[in-house]
Amino acid sequence: MLKIGVLVSGGGTNLQAIMDAIDAGEITNAKVDIVISNNASAYALERARKHDVEAMCIAPKDYPDREAFHKALLSKLQERGVDLIVLAGYLVAIPPMMVEAYPNKIINIHPSLIPSFCGVGYYGLHVHEAALKRGVKVTGATVHFVDTGTDTGPIILQKAVKIEPDDTPQSLQRSVMEKAEWKILPKAINLIANGKISVEDHIVTISD
Ligand code: GRF
Repeated sequence: MLKIGVLVSGGGTNLQAIMDAIDAGEITNAKVDIVISNNASAYALERARKHDVEAMCIAPKDYPDREAFHKALLSKLQERGVDLIVLAGYLVAIPPMMVEAYPNKIINIHPSLIPSFCGVGYYGLHVHEAALKRGVKVTGATVHFVDTGTDTGPIILQKAVKIEPDDTPQSLQRSVMEKAEWKILPKAINLIANGKISVEDHIVTISD
């Protein structure tokens, strides 16, 4: 049974999609062991508690420096015996120390088709604003492993979403979540939990 630690900062709709997929049997061999937010008021923490999943806040402001904060987070995940870390709208950069402790065991959901609209500064609504500004007709979401760069790790799954002429950054954000994020994040976790994913030379291979 794969033990998952989910890191969140906001509303937690992706966390909800994961918990619902586990309940529905769409993700097997996995459980959400703990949900951790850097922000005590994140609604994602509520969602976890409502689902009887342990939830807590580990916030940078409670530590003398960034290193101490990251060490506390890592210790908590290790103490719980977490096998896979899922970044589900976690707005804190992951330091190399954590990537080294969990090589190809941290995944992230990004709301564009990487390598478009990704990297430093591309988070939240900024991603969708940039896509609309560029005039692309198709965008989407990507689930990828986390390496030491920003949105540069091996790509696991992607799903395209059509942009409508009247889309705003807000409507596009919602449509990418509904049509892509909430589908491919649970799917990627299920593949990992069932040993269907291997990574070599930065390329992910999925077996049946
Ligand atoms: C999503 O758009 C995700 O792609 C991005 O942050 C947002 C999180 O939303 N990384 P939620 O907290 O899961 O509702």
